[in-house]
Amino acid sequence: MSNVISIHEIAAHLGEEVTVRGWVYDRTDKGKLQFIQVRDGSGIVQVVAYGPELPEDTFAAAGKLTQESSVIVRGVVKSNPKARKSIPEGFEIGLSELQVVQLADEYPITPKEHGVEFLMDNRHLWLRSSRQWAILRIRATIIKAMRDFMDDHGFLLVDTPILTPAAGENTTTLFEIDYHGEPAYLAQTGQLYNEANMMAFGKVYCFGPTFRAEKSKTRRHLQEFWMMEPEMAFTSLEELMALEEQLVAHIVSEVLRKHPDELRLIERDVTKLEAIKSPFARISYDEAVQRLQTAWAAMPEGEEKDSLKIEWGEDFGSPHETVLTGMFDVPVFVYHYPTAVKAFYMQPVEGRPEVCRSVDLLAPEGYGEITGGSERIYDGELLESRVETMGIGREAYAWYLDLRRFGSVPHAGFGIGLERTVAWVCGLPHVRETIPYARMLSRNYP
Ligand code: 4AD
Ligand code: MG
Repeated sequence: MSNVISIHEIAAHLGEEVTVRGWVYDRTDKGKLQFIQVRDGSGIVQVVAYGPELPEDTFAAAGKLTQESSVIVRGVVKSNPKARKSIPEGFEIGLSELQVVQLADEYPITPKEHGVEFLMDNRHLWLRSSRQWAILRIRATIIKAMRDFMDDHGFLLVDTPILTPAAGENTTTLFEIDYHGEPAYLAQTGQLYNEANMMAFGKVYCFGPTFRAEKSKTRRHLQEFWMMEPEMAFTSLEELMALEEQLVAHIVSEVLRKHPDELRLIERDVTKLEAIKSPFARISYDEAVQRLQTAWAAMPEGEEKDSLKIEWGEDFGSPHETVLTGMFDVPVFVYHYPTAVKAFYMQPVEGRPEVCRSVDLLAPEGYGEITGGSERIYDGELLESRVETMGIGREAYAWYLDLRRFGSVPHAGFGIGLERTVAWVCGLPHVRETIPYARMLSRNYP
């Protein structure tokens, strides 16, 4: 069959006889009419089989199509405002020829409701559902927006290793592997290598999978997640925030521009996304704690109140971030966290070493941390004393300490978590749907 098209470009073929190759998403039997929703990965189109105008065997075959059967259909493209399930909306195909490639067995995932655990067990099939399709298309756009932004701002993509001899963040969430008889770890971050690369190229970023053996089951923790990490020479915390703000605003505007159909399909309130414009809010950790303590004092007694209790010096948990983000319509930067709760490489604030030049960006609507970054310690001796607290042999960090001996400079960088960003932009309650195959505390299948 000729004139094969992709459904997303159907508008350009109005009135033409075309061929579409794909899968039966749904079918409604109306006696002499069969309404077959066919998807090809780029969109969905309603294919109408009309009995009186078709050879008997073609119409009979249309009436036997099961969900997810693979088909090649041919017919004329028409516009029909009632074709509401089509993506793009309002187009249908009047069936003239049908080839059944494979008649699918009874499909486990039907348009009725299923439990999340069942859907996650069938993730390899769930991916075909329109909601998952929309989310993963938005994910791809976010990745492209991130990379384009960095490329357009003078950053060079330099890849960092996944198999590493030392911890990059902390020693509590390491995945240890056997590297030919020696211990090695899956990368928690590309940052330390980024710092070496930054001294070679000025402004760099890496973008890859990172691994954390998180012992907690939360709606925002994965064992394997993707992170983009920029690193810049001669850069302050304030300059870092300015860059993050532009990046995040760019990501959101690209999703709004490219995905009105997908955002409608997942019922995202786009007014919340349209509000994401610079300037973002900026508050210190000190101010955040004060605001939280005030909010806490005003709360009625109960579990929620208990989970929100905080003393200066403690790290924020999800409940704290949720309350803080509720105070703003835009993302909020929280800077100068206590040194004790942050990673070993963060530069202490001058004259006040109990806090450090760190910044987290919290996404609105309760989403919380999507980026973490800081100025890095650039004094060799101070860094060496911090490395010692890691409890992994200093030899594993010798190369990293070298960077402070050969042209050390003030520098800064951050990491933005892809799945948390997708969850926020799509308005999802959990990160598990933001990645094709989620790796969680109790899930490593499929
Ligand atoms: O705050 P984190 O741990 O920072 C770093 O790894 C730094 N080395 C980054 C840097 O400065 N180059 O992680 C950065 C981001 C978090 O803000 C969060 O979005 C995401 O990575 N993230 C996770 N996402 C999903 N599951 C997890 N277990 C995550 N841990 C961190
Ligand atoms: Mg963090």
